[in-house]
Amino acid sequence: MSTNHNDVLLDVQDLKVHFKLHGGLFGQKQTGTVKAVDGVSFQVRRGETLGLVGESGCGKSTTGLGVLRMVEPTAGKVTLDGIDITALNSAALRKARRRMQMVYQDPFGALDPRMRVLDIIGEPLLIHKMFKDKKDYKAQVHDLLERVGLNPNMADRYPHQFSGGQRQRIGIARALAARPELIICDEPVSALDVSIQAQVINLLEDIQEEFGLTYLFIAHDLAVVRHICDRIMVMYLGHVVEVTDRDALYENPQHPYTQALMSAIPIPDPEEEAKRGFDRSLQGEVPSPLNPPSGCPFHPRCRFAHDACKTQKPRLMETDTGHQVACHLYDPAASDINAGDVMEDNLVRAG
Ligand SMILES: Nc1ncnc2c1ncn2[C@@H]1O[C@H](COP(=O)(O)OP(=O)(O)OP(=O)(O)O)[C@@H](O)[C@H]1O
Ligand SMILES: [Mg+2]
Repeated sequence: MSTNHNDVLLDVQDLKVHFKLHGGLFGQKQTGTVKAVDGVSFQVRRGETLGLVGESGCGKSTTGLGVLRMVEPTAGKVTLDGIDITALNSAALRKARRRMQMVYQDPFGALDPRMRVLDIIGEPLLIHKMFKDKKDYKAQVHDLLERVGLNPNMADRYPHQFSGGQRQRIGIARALAARPELIICDEPVSALDVSIQAQVINLLEDIQEEFGLTYLFIAHDLAVVRHICDRIMVMYLGHVVEVTDRDALYENPQHPYTQALMSAIPIPDPEEEAKRGFDRSLQGEVPSPLNPPSGCPFHPRCRFAHDACKTQKPRLMETDTGHQVACHLYDPAASDINAGDVMEDNLVRAG
C-alpha cells in the first residue's frame, strides 16, 4: 500500500459541480442551484489510497462522478497522468475512461439484472476491444472471477443469484476488467453486512497491490477508512475542510468538523472512552447546499465560530507539512480569532 507514490496520478483543481433545479409547469423555470461540489482541489499519488469522508450529502459521490465526467463539471480541471480529462471530446473521454473505473455503493442497483455475469464483467473488454476472440473473452472473465474469489463457472448466472458480498465482488471484477490505474470506490462496503465488509476491504487491498492500483476511497465515517487509506480528505458541504496523512488526521484532527467526526467513532473499551474526556459530537443537520451558509460553511454548527467565520470563507492552508485545513482558527491572517479554545480542548484530550 505505502510504496513510492510521489508522482501524481490524479490532479483535481477547483472542481465545481452545480446542479440547476427546474420548476414550473413544464420545468423550464430555473428555481435554484445545488452547489454539490464547490471548488474542490486535491491530488492522488500513484499507488496511494486517498480517503474521502464526510456526512451524507456533502458531495462525495458527486466529486467522484465529476472526476470521471459521469456528471459534467461546472468548472475546474481534472488531470489524469497529465491528460486534461475536462478538455476531452466524447470519443477521447471514452478511451480515457478505461484508465479510471468506479465501484459503487449499492451492489444491488449497480448491476444490470438482465445481464449475465459474463457480460457484466466482460462489457469493459468489449467497449475497449481488449480481447482476441470469444475464447479469450471468456478466459479473461473467468480469470477475473477467480481473482475476486468467485467460482468461474458462475459466469452464466444473473446478479439476483448472488449475495450482496458476491455482487460487490462482481462489481470489483468489472472495474478491474479494463486494467484501470485509478478506481473510485464509492462506499463499497457500506451496504454490506459487517461480517462481509472486512473480506471486501481485504480483496480491494490485495488487488491494489497486485495491479498497482490507485484508489479514491469514499466513506461517510472515519472508522472504515482508517485501515485502508494513506491520506484522508474531509469534505463538508461541497468543500474540502481538511486533508492530511492518515495518522496525522487521527492523532491531531484540526478542523472542528473533523474533530466532531472523530468523536463519533466509538471506542470499544469503556475506560478508554471515559478518558477521551471531550464531546465534540455534531449538533444539527448539514445545511442544504441549495442555500449554503455564508462565510465558512461549517460555522452554524461550529462551537468556535467567530464573527469572521460568518462572513469570510476560510482558505485551505498548510498548518503542518502535508496537513491542510480550511479554518480561520489556524489562519494567522485572521488574527482577531482566538485559537486558545482549541488549544485548551486539545490539552483536555491529551490529558
Ligand atoms: N443530479 C442531481 N440533481 C440535483 N441535486 C443533486 C444531484 N445529485 C446530487 N445532488 C445533491 O448534491 C448534494 C451532494 O450529493 P452527493 O450524492 O454527492 O453526496 P454524498 O456525500 O455522496 O452523500 P451520501 O453519503 O448520502 O452518498 C446533495 O445535496 C444531493 O441532494
Ligand atoms: Mg454518496
